[in-house]
Amino acid sequence: MRSLDDLLAEGVSGRRVLVRADLNVPLDRSTPSPRISDDGRIRASLPTVQALRNGGARVVVAAHLGRPKGAPDPQFSLAPVAARLGELLGTDVPLASDVAGDDARAKVAALGDGDVLLLENVRFEAAETSKDDAERGELADRLAALADVYVDDAFGAVHRKHASVYDVALRLPHAAGRLVATELDVLTRLTTDPERPYVVVLGGSKVSDKLAVIEALLPKVDRLLVGGGMCFTFLAAQGHGVGSSLLEADQVDTCRRLLAEAGNRIVLPVDVVAASAFSADAEVSVVDVDAIPDDRMGLDVGPRTVEVFGRELGGARTVFWNGPMGVFELVPFQAGTRGVAAAVAAVAGLSVVGGGDSAAAVRTLGLDEAAYGHISTGGGASLEYLEGRELPGLAVLAQDGAA
Ligand code: 3PG
Repeated sequence: MRSLDDLLAEGVSGRRVLVRADLNVPLDRSTPSPRISDDGRIRASLPTVQALRNGGARVVVAAHLGRPKGAPDPQFSLAPVAARLGELLGTDVPLASDVAGDDARAKVAALGDGDVLLLENVRFEAAETSKDDAERGELADRLAALADVYVDDAFGAVHRKHASVYDVALRLPHAAGRLVATELDVLTRLTTDPERPYVVVLGGSKVSDKLAVIEALLPKVDRLLVGGGMCFTFLAAQGHGVGSSLLEADQVDTCRRLLAEAGNRIVLPVDVVAASAFSADAEVSVVDVDAIPDDRMGLDVGPRTVEVFGRELGGARTVFWNGPMGVFELVPFQAGTRGVAAAVAAVAGLSVVGGGDSAAAVRTLGLDEAAYGHISTGGGASLEYLEGRELPGLAVLAQDGAA
């Protein structure tokens, strides 16, 4: 895989460089104009964009936001992202009104050395996510025509076989951006001879989303701590009543098998915060996992669980954490995620926070990002990497670039 430094050493001055970045940031839509509630992914894209600007490149950034239905939709416009990227770079970042059409072509032609342009949301083109190679290829041709070189820095999207992630790399000389390189470096440390004890903490709502990664990680980890909504299917598999908590009944047998295979390596909560409703105003009480009332739902792990998990994490030398322990967006159910986040931050060895909700939790709970070894920008991408799956966006970067 060619690196950004290889490309810079070749010289980028005056060259048009298409950078695929993952700028898929959460937007708070409760205000008249949408506000970016966590700009972590935009900040993570800066080293690559800045290095290219410093080298005199004409930088054309392609990115997606949310999941629009393959046509322009103002609520998914990248306009707020262009504004924030410009603020962070200290320069004006114009936004093309289309992805790879007349406006994009005109704005690329007007770029000077060191300038940055953001294309409109690539998912405004249905071809971006199409399963049809020819459809994606047609969009990739138009994207490739906007640039001389392609840099993939969208780590959070490398598991997608999309036109701007995969097909365009088949058409242009290409390199991996700084963020992709950093993320890969860390994930390699988790998969190749991790320092032990190696403890993984998984949370989030659905166990079905995490089964593949659990199966892949179980033979490699010393402990797998399970919290979040997904713990209730495991607790049910142990024979506990879980009240009205989230339960995937069709996964109970699988969880039972995993518990049997894992022996004491899977560690489940011992208490939970049980609520009368999914609401910040609900009545709440802390109960042991063998005493969850029928009419209550568990919305966070309890304080004794935080202690148990904290003890396991205290001795760990390598930790990967993905998924919140509870509904941390609601104040009464934040303590579990906060407690685990603090324990992960205190780990003496390598601590990695998987992207998505756990990275958002670190930032929205106001925790110190610097306390973690690495906060990944890729939720799904890092999980698929740990599952051992081939990620299309990485596989294509490893192929020889087009001449
Ligand atoms: C993410 O948010 O995980 C990435 O930006 C990928 O987005 P997607 O799941 O909509 O493809």
